[in-house]
Amino acid sequence: MVNICCIGAGYVGGPSCAVIAYQCHDVKVTIVDLNQARIDAWNSDELPIYEPGLDEIVFARRGKNLFFTTDVDQAIIDADLIFVSVNTPTKKTGMGAGMAADLAYIERATRRIAEVATSSKVVIEKSTVPCRTAQSMRTILEANSNKNIRFDILSNPEFLAEGTAINDLTNPDRVLIGCLQTPEGFAAQQKLVDIYTRWIPKEKVITMNLWSSELSKLAANALLAQRISSINALSAICEATGADVDEVAYACGTDSRIGPKFLKASVGFGGSCFQKDILNLVYLSEQLHLPEVAAYWKSVVTMNEYQKMRFTHRIVRTLFNTVTHKRIALLGFAFKKDTGDTRESAAITLCSYLIQERANVAIYDPKVSAAQIKMDLTEPGVGTNEATVEKHIQVCKTAYEACADAAAIVICTEWDEFKMHQLDYQKVFDSMQKPAFIFDGRLILDAPKLREIGFRVETIGKSI
Ligand code: NAD
Ligand code: UDX
Repeated sequence: MVNICCIGAGYVGGPSCAVIAYQCHDVKVTIVDLNQARIDAWNSDELPIYEPGLDEIVFARRGKNLFFTTDVDQAIIDADLIFVSVNTPTKKTGMGAGMAADLAYIERATRRIAEVATSSKVVIEKSTVPCRTAQSMRTILEANSNKNIRFDILSNPEFLAEGTAINDLTNPDRVLIGCLQTPEGFAAQQKLVDIYTRWIPKEKVITMNLWSSELSKLAANALLAQRISSINALSAICEATGADVDEVAYACGTDSRIGPKFLKASVGFGGSCFQKDILNLVYLSEQLHLPEVAAYWKSVVTMNEYQKMRFTHRIVRTLFNTVTHKRIALLGFAFKKDTGDTRESAAITLCSYLIQERANVAIYDPKVSAAQIKMDLTEPGVGTNEATVEKHIQVCKTAYEACADAAAIVICTEWDEFKMHQLDYQKVFDSMQKPAFIFDGRLILDAPKLREIGFRVETIGKSI
């Protein structure tokens, strides 16, 4: 029986290795974490992350060939293949603060493997890391290898998107496996290829060198985010000219060279990956003395910040240049639909701007808890504090409760339950102050129909 250990039971480690256990019943998968509460949740009826389809997969294999534990050392000792799937956040202090990836978690996990392993291991870099991180991991591992124990290192970046993780893992566009171009490297690579090809067609499992694999992950995220910033930049031109951003995106996306995906204008991209990984690329470019390259990628993040600010300014301007003491219903706090994840969500920035304008913000999100919202809004750097958050934020249990008596609604996340056929907008309108405004930051509403009800509608990328 192949024995797999995954270090890091987060949004990536949990789903990606649960899917391996689900697809390969003869592979034993042990997912470990230092965070006891997280492991307890993985072992309970309420998993620590909300992801459509994840419960079924975990409940089907847990206790059979899928295990969650904080006993990191034993799992390392038992494993043949070890995924390192720990967090790699942007550094907050020190060299490269605000840009470089914090590799402390990667190093700690790697050192643990080196210290406790009693047999040879294939160590797989699953986390998103700066190009050549595998070299540092290799150096640490090799310093601890001997004639009885060898470590081989692979890069296997993860491309899942939250909200669609199970489908992305079950039917991926591709799986990338990078290795050292040596006989031992190829042999290690083959072990992982043999796992993935159990359910993924061979031609979708792409093999390449370690550094290309590491860089491809940063590149893919940068290119995806760049498309969003490009359409968001165009949305500003649309609002000023009478062009309609959905029509422009459709016209451009039907060109087969451009393609239709990732051209949805929005209040700004969020999530734990895009900003972090672009800044990582910016830092790498600076370190390589490529300032023009760094500036090019940095502009993707700058445009995203601009989009969030531009949308807030539009709200304030439309509400007669003041939102002081006005109740504003903010629908959606997660960074996208079908996830409870709020990392880098545009809603955090929007709320902070609105609080600074002294608005009273009534927030509703189907999957984000009040505690999480308050924690996000009081994080250092957000620009608000506990007292102002307590005073200006109300977390509601339904969209109707948030909208009641509000002067305006702001759609921040594209949850299906906010769409026209699901939320009764007549009922919402009747409960609001008049004139009743809606700001659609996600292009999910039918503006003409809302205007028939009596709403004043402002949509991102549209002037009417
Ligand atoms: P996460 O914060 O949800 O999970 C990481 C987990 O690792 C945490 O639970 C933490 O306690 C644990 N951990 C840290 N150090 C450890 C150690 N030494 N031993 C044991 N456990 C340890 O992070 P995530 O969202 O799962 O992201 C993990 C990596 O995958 C990051 O590099 C990220 O960039 C990348 N990635 C994330 C996504 C995504 O959608 N979230 C997609 C693709 C790639
Ligand atoms: C992203 C990548 O898609 C995935 O491949 C990688 O592994 C991790 O990072 P994720 O952040 O989970 O995944 O979600 P994604 O669907 O990419 O959305 C990111 C943000 O961009 C969200 O805030 C989303 O609402 C926004 N977005 C996406 C747009 O504003 N417009 C679009 O057209 C697409």
